[in-house]
Amino acid sequence: MEFVEVWPVVGLQVRTPDVELFVPGEGTLVEVARLAAAGIYDPQNHYLPRTPVGGWEDCESPEAERRFLRYYWAAFADWRPERWNLMLAAKVGGVLVGVQEIGAQDFAVTRVVSTGSWIGRAYQRAGHGKAMRRAVLHLAFAGLGAERADTAAWATNEPSLAVSAALGYQPNGTTTRAAEGRRVDQINLTLRRADWRGSSDGCSITGLSPGARAMLGAPMP
Ligand SMILES: CC(C)(COP(=O)(O)OP(=O)(O)OC[C@H]1O[C@@H](n2cnc3c(N)ncnc32)[C@H](O)[C@@H]1OP(=O)(O)O)[C@@H](O)C(=O)NCCC(=O)NCCS
Repeated sequence: MEFVEVWPVVGLQVRTPDVELFVPGEGTLVEVARLAAAGIYDPQNHYLPRTPVGGWEDCESPEAERRFLRYYWAAFADWRPERWNLMLAAKVGGVLVGVQEIGAQDFAVTRVVSTGSWIGRAYQRAGHGKAMRRAVLHLAFAGLGAERADTAAWATNEPSLAVSAALGYQPNGTTTRAAEGRRVDQINLTLRRADWRGSSDGCSITGLSPGARAMLGAPMP
């Protein structure tokens, strides 16, 4: 029996004219871990408290890679149809550039997903952030039948806010949090299905089998 038969979401792939999102196999996963460990925040940029994505950001190799892997595997280990988080590797022109996450709680009832992402420093500011978000929104709205996609960013995270603004998200309040010992506002954003302006031209989703839908709490087509 193949792994994908037991754990069908590993077969999910989204392709758009700009980017390919897929669940990394073992070999690619090591590459993703190395990209994460090489850094996702520019030390010259003081506009952020660094968003603690997976807890690997402050340590050296190989501990950084190991922490990334723990974070990655924990998402699969904790997976339930009622609460899941899927980490998709992103390739542009065959080059691994980052990770696009999509998650949901009680998707079968709420039809709401939330997303997060990071891009290796060497590949930032080239439009990949927007391309990855467009691709995952295609999965959410066209593939899974989501009614809403949520996201959030620190009020100071200009690139992340710019990606959301470019894709038509609307403000949905703020949450005050503590980050690196400082009080910081997180801006919550939401994109309703009716406001999704994504084009499906040249986009395809594969692996959204009945088994994958069941794991995601997504309706059958
Ligand atoms: C947020 C992130 C994914 C954006 O990806 P990216 O590929 O760099 O972004 P893009 O090239 O698609 O640019 C998106 C927009 O941000 C703007 N932008 C990018 N970097 C910027 C910067 N350092 N300062 C200000 N604006 C910036 C771009 O000009 C573009 O704006 P536009 O649509 O008005 O042209 C990436 O910067 C990243 O991985 N950051 C570290 C991790 C992180 O913060 N993740 C999000 C947590 S909420």
